[in-house]
Amino acid sequence: MKVTVVGAGNVGATCADVLATREIANEIVLLDIKEGFAEGKALDIWQTAPINLYDSRTVGCTNDYARTADSDVVVITSGLPRKPGMSRDDLIATNAGIVKTVTENVVKYSPNAIIIVVSNPLDVMTYCAFLNANMPSSRVFGMAGVLDTARYRAFLAEELNVSPKDIQAVLMGGHGDTMVPLPRYTTVGGIPVTELIDEARLNEIIERTKFGGGEIVKLLGTSAWYAPGAAAAQMVEAVVRDQKRIFPVCAWLQGEYGMSDIYLGVPVVLGKNGIEKIIELQLNEAERALLVDSAEAVKGVMDVLDNMNANA
Ligand code: LAC
Repeated sequence: MKVTVVGAGNVGATCADVLATREIANEIVLLDIKEGFAEGKALDIWQTAPINLYDSRTVGCTNDYARTADSDVVVITSGLPRKPGMSRDDLIATNAGIVKTVTENVVKYSPNAIIIVVSNPLDVMTYCAFLNANMPSSRVFGMAGVLDTARYRAFLAEELNVSPKDIQAVLMGGHGDTMVPLPRYTTVGGIPVTELIDEARLNEIIERTKFGGGEIVKLLGTSAWYAPGAAAAQMVEAVVRDQKRIFPVCAWLQGEYGMSDIYLGVPVVLGKNGIEKIIELQLNEAERALLVDSAEAVKGVMDVLDNMNANA
């Protein structure tokens, strides 16, 4: 299996490192526009192989898409990260141009790849890749829910002092402050979380989850990378190993949840064909209202992109 990661910044390099260390792909190509940068990161990652005892090969290149040819999966992480005080949406103009160019180049050399977008603002950059990829939407989707649920699960594990492995959760909506964690669908070793944590405390944890990315931007002065990189790698794994994992993924909706022509986080089955199924949960009225709010927020930013394209 060959996996390309475009963008050798913190998220891309972490993703490549996880892909290599866990032998998710035997060939990993890291590509960046900055001269020598991906080569350097790839060399450093490759030199961990004798220490970490794996044989996946990571190579780097500067903007040479021919090296990415025939990738099975391509992860797009390119774009500027957030600085303190910025929302993910503030990045749209710059990152849309970058994601468009990257997608065109990726598709030219790997027309049969599955594309996983990680660039922000996530939902709209996934839409941007879809507009430029000319591929079925089952093969172009975005990573956000795996990261957002990981944050939620980590906070819950900490609160209950139990293993994060035993916390199962689903979270829907856009990758932003309007994301929709679903306590009704959150369990701890099979036990509904609502039996273990009272409503007020659970709401605090949900609020912290919604701003989980921002909390790290505030601490570091730039956005997170370990969890985003690992989350993207976990999605790649589900595809290359045809695992049929159920993850919340930013997916193109065509009638599901009563919504159309929008990229939004929903639970899906991920396997070798990409999104093999979108799972439609029976949301109650309150949950549905939150999802509609989140969809409106995402749609607003999609409109900004559509207007930019119309005026280009
Ligand atoms: C975050 C960024 C990567 O949530 O969107 O940390």
